[in-house]
Amino acid sequence: MRHGGTKRLETERLVLRRFTVEDAPQMYANWASDPVVTEFLTWPTHDSVEVTRQVLTSWVEGYARPDAYNWALELKESGEVIGSLSVVRADDDIAELELGWCMGRAYWGRGLMPEAAAAVVGYLFDEVGANRICAKHDVNNPKSGRVMEKIGMRLEGVHRQAGRNNMGVVDLAVHAVLASDRREGK
Ligand SMILES: CC(C)(COP(=O)(O)OP(=O)(O)OC[C@H]1O[C@@H](n2cnc3c(N)ncnc32)[C@H](O)[C@@H]1OP(=O)(O)O)[C@@H](O)C(=O)NCCC(=O)NCCS
Repeated sequence: MRHGGTKRLETERLVLRRFTVEDAPQMYANWASDPVVTEFLTWPTHDSVEVTRQVLTSWVEGYARPDAYNWALELKESGEVIGSLSVVRADDDIAELELGWCMGRAYWGRGLMPEAAAAVVGYLFDEVGANRICAKHDVNNPKSGRVMEKIGMRLEGVHRQAGRNNMGVVDLAVHAVLASDRREGK
């Protein structure tokens, strides 16, 4: 792959950009402090904005790596940072990238994550040269599966008791889209 890192992207309603440590208060208030958002995630709800600040400090340092993909989702209408979208795993040998996402509850149901993820998938196929982009969700969290379907990923199967999140050990539904799917309009 030709890793290009967390390049600024733009959609109709969102700017996708690098996080800064100054995003801590909005990240904490909008999603990191909300146990409903983190229910099916692998990290614990932040119990203070200081935790968010520490996480952001390490993310900002991470941008030095060309294969770090970790976007802040900024809503154009308000300038508010409402969520994150990142590559959580990369396999350079087979040009595979795995995506993960989360967003503040107040913004759910407006198609914002599919809008952001479609832009990211386009960038990762067209400029980075990914061959396979996948994502996994707890079977009890189908709303994330809907995002996967909306961006052209297909369900490949369920890996039983293959992951751990804040609910414990869980079954994971695996979705993916291939570069050839896009070329062939599948
Ligand atoms: C998963 C998530 C990113 C979806 O983003 P989104 O921008 O709301 O996506 P959409 O608007 O396309 O909605 C997706 C589905 O969520 C469900 N949904 C929508 N609004 C909802 C609401 N207010 N409350 C609960 N579920 C809702 C619907 O099933 C919807 O599917 P539909 O369009 O077929 O009706 C968001 O729900 C989220 O951040 N969840 C918490 C973190 C998380 O679970 N991350 C994924 C881990 S694998």
